This record gives sequence, C-alpha cells and structure tokens, in this order.
Amino acid sequence: MASIAKLAAAFALGLGLLTPLTGACGGSGDQDHHHHVRSQPGATQPTAFPSSPLVWGDVNFLHTTDTHGWLIGHQKSSPPEPNYSGDFGDFASFVEHMRQEADARGVDLLLVDSGDLHDGTGLSDGFPAGDVDGHESNKFLAKLPYDILAIGNHELYIYNVTRDMHLNFAPQWDGRYLSSNVNITIPDKDGKATSVPVGDRYTKFKTKRGRKVTAFGVIFNFTGNAPNTTVQGVADMVKESWFKEAIIEEPDFFLLVGHMPVSQDNWPLVFNAIRAVHSTIPIFVFGGHTHIRDCVQYDGRSMALESGAYMETVFPFVSSGAKLDSRNRTQNLSVTRRYLDANRNTPTDILHKYHTTNSSEFDTARGEAITAGITDLANRFNLSYAFGTAPQDYYLHRVQYPGNDSLLSLLADKIIPVALKIGFPERANISNVIVANAGSQRFDLLKGPFTRNDQLVVSPFTNAFVYIPNVPFSIAKQVLGQLNSAGSPQRRTADGLESAEDYAAGHIQSRFDRWRQDQWARFGHRAANENFTLGYVTKDSCSGIGDDTIHSPIPYYPIPDYVGSPLPTNVPEDAGLDLIILDFFQNDTIKILNKLSSGGKQYTTTDVLPYGDIKIDQIHALYAEAVWN
Ligand SMILES: *[C@@H]1O[C@H](CO)[C@@H](O)[C@H](O)[C@H]1NC(C)=O
Ligand SMILES: *[C@@H]1O[C@H](CO)[C@@H](O)[C@H](O)[C@H]1NC(C)=O
Ligand SMILES: *[C@@H]1O[C@H](CO)[C@@H](O)[C@H](O)[C@H]1NC(C)=O
Ligand SMILES: *[C@@H]1O[C@H](CO)[C@@H](O)[C@H](O)[C@H]1NC(C)=O
Ligand SMILES: *[C@@H]1O[C@H](CO)[C@@H](O)[C@H](O)[C@H]1NC(C)=O
Ligand SMILES: *[C@@H]1O[C@H](CO)[C@@H](O)[C@H](O)[C@H]1NC(C)=O
Ligand SMILES: *[C@@H]1O[C@H](CO)[C@@H](O)[C@H](O)[C@H]1NC(C)=O
Ligand SMILES: *[C@@H]1O[C@H](CO)[C@@H](O)[C@H](O)[C@H]1NC(C)=O
Ligand SMILES: *[C@@H]1O[C@H](CO)[C@@H](O)[C@H](O)[C@H]1NC(C)=O
Ligand SMILES: *[C@@H]1O[C@H](CO)[C@@H](O)[C@H](O)[C@H]1NC(C)=O
Ligand SMILES: *[C@@H]1O[C@H](CO)[C@@H](O)[C@H](O)[C@H]1NC(C)=O
Ligand SMILES: *[C@@H]1O[C@H](CO)[C@@H](O)[C@H](O)[C@H]1NC(C)=O
Ligand SMILES: [Zn+2]
Ligand SMILES: [Zn+2]
Repeated sequence: MASIAKLAAAFALGLGLLTPLTGACGGSGDQDHHHHVRSQPGATQPTAFPSSPLVWGDVNFLHTTDTHGWLIGHQKSSPPEPNYSGDFGDFASFVEHMRQEADARGVDLLLVDSGDLHDGTGLSDGFPAGDVDGHESNKFLAKLPYDILAIGNHELYIYNVTRDMHLNFAPQWDGRYLSSNVNITIPDKDGKATSVPVGDRYTKFKTKRGRKVTAFGVIFNFTGNAPNTTVQGVADMVKESWFKEAIIEEPDFFLLVGHMPVSQDNWPLVFNAIRAVHSTIPIFVFGGHTHIRDCVQYDGRSMALESGAYMETVFPFVSSGAKLDSRNRTQNLSVTRRYLDANRNTPTDILHKYHTTNSSEFDTARGEAITAGITDLANRFNLSYAFGTAPQDYYLHRVQYPGNDSLLSLLADKIIPVALKIGFPERANISNVIVANAGSQRFDLLKGPFTRNDQLVVSPFTNAFVYIPNVPFSIAKQVLGQLNSAGSPQRRTADGLESAEDYAAGHIQSRFDRWRQDQWARFGHRAANENFTLGYVTKDSCSGIGDDTIHSPIPYYPIPDYVGSPLPTNVPEDAGLDLIILDFFQNDTIKILNKLSSGGKQYTTTDVLPYGDIKIDQIHALYAEAVWN
C-alpha cells in the first residue's frame, strides 16, 4: 500500500527531457536522412515545429529530470504524445550537436540531471525476476556525457536500487554523481556495516572553457527512504563542516543540481548558505521532483529551473552575454531559459534553422546505437506484447468523471467488474459492491495496442483486491460516499495540497495537479484554441520566452478520490454481499463500516479476506484480453 502513495507522488506528470534531436544540420535534405531511425519503431512523429532561436550565453545547460524510465519516449498517436516522441537516442544526438555548436561558439554547454531515474515505464520497471529496477535502463544514461547527476527519491524506496546506484551507477561518473545529503549503509571490505554517501557529496571541476565549478547534489527533506539509507535534512546539511569547507574557495559559478523543487522547498537554505560567503558569484540551480516546468531567480545573479518529467521536456538554459565572467559583480546576470518539447522536430529545427554546425544528418552514431539498444531492451523485456487494442483514449483528468472517455469510468464500470469475475470465478456469482481509489491509476490509457509497457505505465501499483463478506447492502452502498467525504487517503492541508508529512514522504501529486489545473483555468476553461496544438502552457516567474512551442492548454478536471462500480440491482437492503476494496484503504473502510453499523457488527482486519489473488496491476490486461481482442 505504501507503494501507491509513493509512486503516485512521483509520477504525476511528466516531463522530462527532451529528446530532440538535431543534428547539425547545416545541409539540406536532412529530413531524408531521418527515416531510417525515427525514435522508436511505431512512435508517431510530430508535425509542427518550434519558434525562435535559443539564446546562447557564456555558459549553457541542458537539463533532464524525473525521467522515470521514459527513455523510450512517448509512443502513442494521441495528442500531445507525438510531441514527446523523441527517445533517449534522439536526445543523445541532440546533445552531441549542441556540444558542437557550443564549441563553434566558444562557449560552455553542460548537461545535468536531477534524479528519479526509476519507476515509470517498462524500460526501468519491466525487468525479469532477480534483476534490479533501472539497472538496464540506467546504462543508457551512462552513455551520455553528463557533467553532474543527482539522486532522486525514487532511487531510495528500495534498498537494492540504492545499492545498485552506489555500486554500479555512481562509479561510472568519476565523482560527478552527487548525493550531498544521502548515505547508504553497506558492508565495508571487512564486512562491517558502514554509512557512506551513495555517490559523492560534492565535486569541483573545470569546464571545457576553463571555468571553475563547485557542484552539489541535494535532495529535499525526504523521509520515505528505505531502511539502511539515510537522508539528512537540508537545514542540517548546510551546517556540516564538509559543506562549509567546500564553499570557501571561490569558483566561477556554483552549480546546484538536485531533487528538490525550485519553488516552495529548501533550495534557499543552500543558496543563502553560499551567498553568506560569496555575495555575487553566479549560482545555477537545477531542481526537480514536482514534475512541473518552473523557473525562479533567487537574486539577480542566479537562476533556478525545473524541467518537468517523463521525458516530455528538455530544458536548455542559457546564460547569455559576457556578463557571467564580468568583473563587475553588481550587474545582474542576463539569463534565459527555454522548455523544449521532446521530439525530433525541436532539435532538427533548432539546429537546422538557427545554428551553424555542419553535420548533414541529425542522428549520430551514438544516438542511433542508443535507440537500437532501447529497442533491444524493450524486446528483451517483452514490452510490446499486446493484450488487446484499446478502441479509444481514456483520460484521467482531461475529461469529466463520469464519462465515456474517462479512465475512471472505464475502470469502475468495466475493467474491475470484468477482471474480478475472470480472476476469482469462485465468488463471481455473489453480489458485490466495489470501490477503488483513483490514485491507483497513474497515466491516461491511450488508443491503440494495450501493451505490457502500457500496463506498467498506466497501473503499476501492486495493491491487492480484498473483500469483507456478508456486509448488508444498505451499509455497503454508503461506503463510497463516506470514503469520498473523508477525503483522499493522503492528508491535505486547508488549501488542498499534501500535508507536510505526506510531502516529506514523497507525495507531489497535488502540486502537479494544481499546476495543470491552473493552466486550464488561466485560459478560462476554453476548449482548445484551434491555432495551437495541445501541450503545457507554462507560466513561471522568470522573464522572456519559456515554452519553446506555443500550445493550447490540456483540459483538466478534478476527479473524485474514490470511484465505485455500478451497484447491483434487485438486491434487498438487508442482503449480505461482498464489499470489495483495495488493501490500500482497508483500515479507512473498516472505520467507516463501524460508524455506519453503529450498534451492529464491529469489523476488524480479521474480517478482510484476499479476493482471490488479484492485484490492481493485473486487471487491465485481463480486461484487454477478454474484451479488446
Ligand atoms: C504536437 O502534437 C500535435 C498533435 O499530434 C501535432 O499536431 C503537432 O504538430 C505537434 N507539435 C510539435 C511541436 O511537435
Ligand atoms: C537484494 O539483492 C540481494 C543481493 O543481490 C539479493 O540477495 C536479495 O534477494 C535482493 N532483495 C530483493 C528484495 O530483491
Ligand atoms: C541494515 O543493515 C544492517 C547491517 O548490514 C543489517 O544487519 C540490517 O538487517 C539491515 N536492516 C534492514 C531493515 O534491512
Ligand atoms: C554519511 O557518511 C559519511 C562518511 O561515512 C559520514 O561521515 C556521515 O556521518 C554520514 N552521514 C549521515 C547523515 O549518516
Ligand atoms: C524534515 O522533515 C521532517 C518531516 O516534516 C521534519 O520533522 C524535520 O524537522 C525536517 N528536517 C529538516 C532538517 O528540515
Ligand atoms: C536585478 O535582479 C533582481 C532580482 O531579480 C531585481 O530585483 C533587480 O531589480 C535587478 N536589478 C537591475 C538593475 O535590473
Ligand atoms: C557595474 O555595473 C553597474 C550596473 O550596470 C554600473 O552602474 C557600474 O558603473 C559598473 N561598474 C563598473 C566598475 O563598471
Ligand atoms: C561548415 O561548412 C562550410 C562549408 O563547407 C565551411 O565553410 C565551414 O567552415 C564549416 N563550419 C564548421 C563549423 O565546420
Ligand atoms: C510476453 O508477455 C506475455 C504476457 O505476460 C506472455 O504471455 C508472453 O509469453 C511473453 N512473451 C515472452 C517472449 O516472454
Ligand atoms: C456514452 O456511451 C453510451 C453508449 O455508447 C451512449 O449511449 C451515450 O450517449 C454516451 N454518452 C456521451 C455523453 O457521449
Ligand atoms: C486562430 O487564428 C485566426 C487567424 O489568425 C484567428 O482569426 C482566430 O481568431 C484564431 N482562433 C482563436 C481561437 O484564437
Ligand atoms: C491497519 O490496521 C492494522 C491493525 O491496526 C495495522 O496493523 C496495519 O498496519 C494497518 N494498515 C495500514 C495500511 O495502515
Ligand atoms: Zn519524479
Ligand atoms: Zn521525486
């Protein structure tokens, strides 16, 4: 159960990286070269192209965060998925071309990642028994020339995952995989348990153009980590003597990469600790975790950015002009940022139209090898195996619930009733009342083949169906309403956001939802503007162009915390039937039953029985096999 909450928090949205591609195109006819490698086989390519040239500065960054295994790109044909259809191989090609461009301009281009590499698609999570989540997909990240990477909370829920990051991932980065406030406890050479940083606490290095950098990798004040991993609070970290010593020396700029939102979290603690020593040295912050696009300047000589999730966004950030290195430290930095949709048009266009590099094709050898490697891994993990074909799109938030296009309606009205009958025929003839929590679903279920990968994307949580037999119908039918008025299984503050405690445990869904809801509300809940394609419409607190491609906002409707299957008909009020729920909220349900049956039977956990052996992550496949074949 814990897993629902954790994972829901992590994934809500996505963005992530960009995978544009590009290539230096200089030449003509490069479109012709693209057909042999276009993202992943079957991915629908976008048709529109982005807007204006990137603004290059002395120091420029490409940022990925919260990729959550989406290295395969978004493969569906329903808008706006084609806008995120670039895969990590396309991104690799883009990075190579951008580096050439930076070289041609004599400026620095750094590549950074803010963590959460696990939990999101089959490429990370579809591993065979005995393997470790993300072990294979992380090998693709290691093929890119990241300058700094930082650990995320999704590297910390399962000890073996953290151990894999420590033993196998971190050593490939020559001190550039940072975990300033995260340790793992692991046997040392003599077998004695020892607490050590998962990666490195900080690093100092010189850029290609000779600029001195001091970098940290900080995670938010996370409390949901596995036993034998340690997360130190940010406020405590900045008091450590190693930290104070690390910031004494004056670099050309500080680089703070970490798994912490740039708004409403603790970056200012780190920022201020550095500012207390260096009042004007530029500080660049690359955050993550809430899956939104965001930008804020803590002062005039710094910038803090967050670039979404799920490989929907790649985020180049440019510090422009000569002011970075200026001896005049009273002047504000001139900084720009741009959120790029992760598809092959973005980079092709950027490189082709606005830049000078000369390669005749976008795809580099390394990019093509990564794309091919991703295809191989997807095959090895059986990710394209289709259980059936979804006849249409079903959305979590884009349409109202209940409704014919609502994923929650499909879930409650069709998937659960059909799948439970197939999965537990022994009780199929007993009338029931079924309630599920909306947080059990992570992503829209889109038209087309419903594959093993889709199953892992849409409904990955492993909560079990359980039931309480012989509950009077008159009581059972009130449970849904009572659960919904009790509210989400997560505690919320008065303004509807996660409680401090849940937020510390890793939950971010409400912040992500709020961000999307605001975009839709800002446009007056109008239907899509036909002049623009669907996508994110970012409003952050930095000036200048944010989104590279102008979009019309995706509709966003609130959904209930719980949904119920259609009630049985022709059942007497006092008939005893099965109340079927998920183990995730069984204790809340027991409380409600005892309130409703006041004076009558008092329920305890011993009344709760497994409903066969069915888990929420299995039912979509059962349904697709039965109905969509
Ligand atoms: C985004 O996706 C829509 C719908 O598929 C498409 O029409 C549009 O061209 C895409 N835009 C970009 C920039 O790729
Ligand atoms: C974790 O890894 C160890 C060592 O490889 C293995 O023995 C153990 O079974 C793994 N635990 C889980 C829960 O996968
Ligand atoms: C933590 O590590 C210690 C030392 O290796 C071990 O004895 C203990 O069982 C571990 N605790 C958990 C909860 O895994
Ligand atoms: C992390 O590991 C270092 C090195 O062993 C140790 O000095 C430090 O106390 C540990 N920090 C925490 C918060 O456990
Ligand atoms: C971290 O968060 C926890 C839970 O909200 C809180 O108890 C603790 O004081 C925080 N620690 C720091 C250093 O901020
Ligand atoms: C410098 O930037 C700060 C923070 O963004 C702003 O408040 C201030 O007005 C700027 N100063 C100038 C001279 O532009
Ligand atoms: C530094 O920049 C500020 C703001 O542009 C300007 O007023 C000042 O004269 C400059 N100082 C020097 C020494 O160039
Ligand atoms: C690009 O190609 C042109 C024409 O062949 C050549 O003049 C120019 O130097 C090349 N630029 C770079 C950066 O290689
Ligand atoms: C792929 O997965 C499906 C569904 O779990 C299974 O029936 C099939 O045998 C698998 N194929 C391979 C090659 O593993
Ligand atoms: C939903 O589908 C049903 C059955 O196909 C149809 O009767 C109904 O009109 C549809 N409702 C809407 C709002 O489209
Ligand atoms: C779309 O663009 C056309 C031509 O510029 C304009 O007349 C129309 O009002 C626009 N539609 C919307 C919804 O903005
Ligand atoms: C439910 O309550 C039981 C008994 O009080 C407790 O042991 C269990 O941890 C609780 N489960 C959850 C998911 O809170
Ligand atoms: Zn995340
Ligand atoms: Zn996170």
